[in-house]
Amino acid sequence: MINVHYKNKEVFVFKDINELADFAIAKWAELSEKAIRARGAFTVALPGGRTPVVLYRKLSDEKTLPWDKTHIFMTDERFVPYEAEENNFHMLSRTLLGRINIPKENIHSISTKEAMPLASAVKYEEDLIAHFRRLDNKYPEFDLILLGIGDDGHTASLFPDASPFAKTRHLAITVSPKDKTKKERITLTLPVINNAENVMFLAAGNDKAGIIKEVLEAEDSLLPAALVRPKKGGLIFLLDEGAASLLSLQRR
Ligand code: 6PG
Repeated sequence: MINVHYKNKEVFVFKDINELADFAIAKWAELSEKAIRARGAFTVALPGGRTPVVLYRKLSDEKTLPWDKTHIFMTDERFVPYEAEENNFHMLSRTLLGRINIPKENIHSISTKEAMPLASAVKYEEDLIAHFRRLDNKYPEFDLILLGIGDDGHTASLFPDASPFAKTRHLAITVSPKDKTKKERITLTLPVINNAENVMFLAAGNDKAGIIKEVLEAEDSLLPAALVRPKKGGLIFLLDEGAASLLSLQRR
């Protein structure tokens, strides 16, 4: 594993997705212990997509993690039925939630049973408010948010072509991607993501090399992934060699 400060960002490069996932699990365990000691709970938001699947499967083998004190939210969801292949919660249930002993009240999905995406966003926002009110009655401050990155620079379901989202006071919003092949979405907003204690980007594969280079190197990029700058929290990029292949790295 290579660890470098790359244009002031903390970057870790791993041989492959398995080594990346093992590191992410160690980080998860460390942050979870710290959060539970401080607030009695560990609150995390997880993305969909393909990249995190290996991590989720490995996490499901970690039976000694304090799942009873871990609250799992979604960073975003496609507005499709749970049974649909594209449903993020369905993927997360298959790869992680259905394999660990976590109380169902600790699982916070974005429901897609509502008549409209807006109703789902409102319901999810109510769940976020209620959870963080129970904890410490503050604006949502996730202990950890995992994020993927699309080759257009989107993250969660914050797309470059979506309406300006940086300033919203909402915690969760609906997004209608211009690319109509992508479904209606519900997503955490950028202010919520940027209020997290820790944000960890995961990217793997040569197809991510270009966007990773752009997001890490551009000073004033307006790409959603480049706008993720936690105000006080930590931000780290976990990359495999493919995703890091266009970066000019020297071992530290
Ligand atoms: C989603 C994700 C999305 C994902 C990126 C990367 O709902 O699709 O939340 O933001 O993280 O599109 O996806 P891959 O991991 O499949 O490359």
